Amino acid sequence: MKKVLIIHGPNLNFTGIREKAVYGTKSLDDFNKIILEKCNELGFEAETFQSNYEGAIIDKLQECYFKGVDGIVINPGAFTHYSYAIRDAISSIGLPVVEVHLSNIHARDEFRKTSVTAPVCIGQICGFGVNSYILGLEALKMHFM
Ligand code: DQA
Repeated sequence: MKKVLIIHGPNLNFTGIREKAVYGTKSLDDFNKIILEKCNELGFEAETFQSNYEGAIIDKLQECYFKGVDGIVINPGAFTHYSYAIRDAISSIGLPVVEVHLSNIHARDEFRKTSVTAPVCIGQICGFGVNSYILGLEALKMHFM
């Protein structure tokens, strides 16, 4: 059974409260329920993790290396656009990582169009709300085949 981790970055614990027109009305708990059901369907052993702290996300990524996690779906939130430290952590662990975003980051503010993390991921999916995570999990499944 493949082990996967789903990481939600900063402010994603505020979905359902923040900018509903952009991120929708579902809470992070609602998202995790949908995500874990999909993991079950795909036959993944899964864990979800959320943090507002860059270092905590880096520690979690490094933990994946030691704990034999097979793949990761990550929404790095705003860290996407400037965290070289998270980029280095993704690159260091050498695991397949899919970057996902609820919104279409290419259709928003100029600063959101840059992802410093996507180049070290196997791919990026954005703009489909919670389905970005679902597609990210499907992408991991295909990557494992
Ligand atoms: C986001 C997009 C980021 O630009 C933003 O900072 C977020 C959420 C998304 O899921 O659409 O916090 O990652």
